[in-house]
Amino acid sequence: MGSGGNAADFVCDRTSLGRWRCWQEKTLFTRCSPCHSVTEQNKVGPHLSGVFGRPAGTVAGASYSKAMTASGMTWNEQTLDAFLTEPTRVLPGTTMSARLPNPQDRADVVA
Ligand code: HEC
Repeated sequence: MGSGGNAADFVCDRTSLGRWRCWQEKTLFTRCSPCHSVTEQNKVGPHLSGVFGRPAGTVAGASYSKAMTASGMTWNEQTLDAFLTEPTRVLPGTTMSARLPNPQDRADVVA
């Protein structure tokens, strides 16, 4: 994964890189990649390609909890930030347990 560059120096250039590509380069994605891909392939979790603006729980073929499909949420900066802080608090019953407690990490993922 990544280009082999120094992740700490990597600056997200949103004009030339998509958000998720940028995030991948920052290596933060290693915290999510066991369960998620950013290509259109589901793993344990639904793929995250095009997740911004997507209603929660709507990837075809992904296995979701009832909590997720019934949530009525759409993923954007606010909902992702809240969900990633403490998934089970925002969405009791979700099967995703991974969290990003560090606000800077969330900002990097969601930016
Ligand atoms: C241990 C496996 C695992 C890890 C690690 C994990 N997730 Fe998840 N994720 C899941 C599962 C399973 C779901 C489906 C949850 C449900 O339906 O309640 C999910 C759902 C999601 C969703 C909702 C997707 C949709 O289509 O509605 C987002 C967004 C998400 N995860 C982001 C992340 C991010 C960002 C990370 C890394 C910080 C991460 N996840 C790490 C397992 C994981």
